[in-house]
Amino acid sequence: MLTKVEIITRSNKLEPLKKALNDIGVLGMTVSQVFGCGIQRGHTEVYRGREYDINLVPKIKLETVVCEVPVEKVLEVAQKAVRTGQPGDGKIFVYQLSDAVRIRTGDRGDQAVMDTGEEPKR
Ligand SMILES: Nc1ncnc2c1ncn2[C@@H]1O[C@H](COP(=O)(O)OP(=O)(O)OP(=O)(O)O)[C@@H](O)[C@H]1O
Ligand SMILES: [Mg+2]
Repeated sequence: MLTKVEIITRSNKLEPLKKALNDIGVLGMTVSQVFGCGIQRGHTEVYRGREYDINLVPKIKLETVVCEVPVEKVLEVAQKAVRTGQPGDGKIFVYQLSDAVRIRTGDRGDQAVMDTGEEPKR
């Protein structure tokens, strides 16, 4: 079974997040710079009822598709790596994935994202 985990968080948390995921054997990831807002609509100050415009704040989005690494472990480790306890720490979205393809080999599904045990070609 393939699961995609999408972590949107503060840009300065990319390094600790990458390291934490690497430490539990997450093999592949895609990282994007994105703009977003949550329930504060991007305003860090106390909501005063006048600031109803939306302020998009730069964030990073890290996507990883896992099959062997337990999703709960990914969620636990990711939260621990990025949480400050302040608004804006981010969101994690979890998706069931219907399929994947490793283009080089034509491998499908779990096989497409599993470690094949080959030496990396350099
Ligand atoms: N409902 C949502 N849909 C899509 N993206 C979201 C959603 N909520 C938050 N995000 C993304 O996550 C980023 C961080 O959100 P944020 O941590 O501010 O969420 P929040 O729900 O406001 O929680 P908090 O109260 O801790 O701030 C946003 O900048 C946005 O990119
Ligand atoms: Mg917020």
